[in-house]
Amino acid sequence: MGVKVKVINGPNLNLLGTREPDIYGKDTLADIEAALTALGKELGCELEFFQSNHEGELVDCIQGCRGRVDGILLNPAAYTHYSYAIRDAVAAVGIPAVEVHISNIHQREAFRQQSVTAPVCCGQVVGFGVDSYLLGLRGLVGIIRGRKQHL
Ligand code: DQA
Repeated sequence: MGVKVKVINGPNLNLLGTREPDIYGKDTLADIEAALTALGKELGCELEFFQSNHEGELVDCIQGCRGRVDGILLNPAAYTHYSYAIRDAVAAVGIPAVEVHISNIHQREAFRQQSVTAPVCCGQVVGFGVDSYLLGLRGLVGIIRGRKQHL
């Protein structure tokens, strides 16, 4: 059964590859998207990608997912820690979302240890670098397929 997933990345993730490589590694966002596309093919899942540095654009993108995609793979970046607008958008669209982070936010500064978006997501994958995205996609597709079977 065909599954469609939107992959949404928040602020500063366009700089991956050169941004604090000791924390975020050397892979670029394009590398991550290519790895996800390859895994998507294996899983029979079509992917669309979006990145923005702007909160409102991320909200618009999440709203636009309604009725169009089966799931959202989301790295809200710094907005994870304080954007009630992004949290509310995820809750509003009612599409299964999985939150991913390259770094282990629970091991870092106190302000990063809270996620306001995770409670409206089905799950959270942190600390595995690029693999956080790949593991998150596997989990999300499993949830989508499980739900579709029950329809
Ligand atoms: C991040 C963690 C956030 O705290 C940070 O603001 C980011 C990246 C991660 O993927 O590890 O921009 O979401």
